[in-house]
Amino acid sequence: MSDKEQDKDVVLQLLRNVKDPVLKKDIVSLGFVKDLQVNGKQVNLKLLLTSPGCPHKDEIISDIVTNLEGYSVMVEITYNVLSGALVRKEGTSKVKNIIAIGSGKGGVGKSTVSILLAYALKRLGAKVGIIDLDFYGATIPSMLGSSFVQNVNEAGLILPPIHEGIKIISLAYFIPQNASVIWRGPMLTKAVHDFMEKVDWGELDYLIADLPPGTGDVPITLGQDRLVNAAVLISTPQPAAVNVALKLVDTFKKLNVPVLGGIENMSYFICPNSKEKVELFGSKYFREKLAEIGLPFLGALPFVPQLRELEDVGVKEENISYIIDDIIPVAKELTCKLSALNSQISERPFFLNIPKKK
Ligand SMILES: Nc1ncnc2c1ncn2[C@@H]1O[C@H](COP(=O)(O)OP(=O)(O)OP(=O)(O)O)[C@@H](O)[C@H]1O
Ligand SMILES: [Mg+2]
Repeated sequence: MSDKEQDKDVVLQLLRNVKDPVLKKDIVSLGFVKDLQVNGKQVNLKLLLTSPGCPHKDEIISDIVTNLEGYSVMVEITYNVLSGALVRKEGTSKVKNIIAIGSGKGGVGKSTVSILLAYALKRLGAKVGIIDLDFYGATIPSMLGSSFVQNVNEAGLILPPIHEGIKIISLAYFIPQNASVIWRGPMLTKAVHDFMEKVDWGELDYLIADLPPGTGDVPITLGQDRLVNAAVLISTPQPAAVNVALKLVDTFKKLNVPVLGGIENMSYFICPNSKEKVELFGSKYFREKLAEIGLPFLGALPFVPQLRELEDVGVKEENISYIIDDIIPVAKELTCKLSALNSQISERPFFLNIPKKK
């Protein structure tokens, strides 16, 4: 072994003392250390993280610097999102994660949070799409003011429109605004599959699935057919919403879909005059209920009247930039939890909890 290789080996051994706080393994074994160069006391390396804007990034870097005491250290951050365990269809073959954003309760902000999360993940540098699975009440295109021109790739798959860098598909693109959808379960199941099979999603780190309210055919299809690898629960804070919202957690538990945690929407309102923080729907209940069932609380979003106004006409990223700021920490937490899940589970056990006959 040459002197240079020996120097590198010494540094690698020291780096083995640095552990990822979530994955609980050392960064060398995890394959996070790339392009390591050691020239005397100068160390250059690339740190390959598994989620954009990893909330533990600074902690890891500081641990590297501490362990390499006496060296001058240059760390370049880069990331490669881990893929989740899910059944990929033709159109989703290069999609790493499909995350269901759902709630047993209607009107709590699933679509709004889907949009905000998509913008936040994009801002963190991820490749993102939104698949609107609310076939009876598709709202994503109108909330974003996005339009659709039918276009297909060479294999005949639909090319989703790209709205401000986010790929989107929704039934709203294909039916007149006032038309209703008269579909029973099998049609919904087919539509879920079609949106994954016949749409060319290309390479995406995260495909956000905006769910319809409730625990019906769409979440059941997603779970039974393993079309998503994780879910996030949305609720407003009051018991009347939370107790119904949580039914989706039970549904996903029965279908073995991991729920990463809950996001509280319309959590509070900052009075523009007095600047007082008003808890419109109370507080604590959602967090307490999540804690009772052992689910993490991922964060809270305020009620912002301007957001509602903008969603009625089509939001633009620049107009909601300050609201996206609020959800960035939530997006970081969520993707970090997803990385931990993806690193642990290569193959999620799949079975239906069918009650035994007495
Ligand atoms: N944090 C918020 N601040 C202000 N308005 C909000 C907020 N979250 C949601 N809204 C508004 O509340 C209404 C319901 O939100 P949204 O459509 O996102 O809920 P949903 O859970 O997707 O509803 P559905 O169950 O019908 O799919 C919309 O008018 C939306 O603009
Ligand atoms: Mg919705």
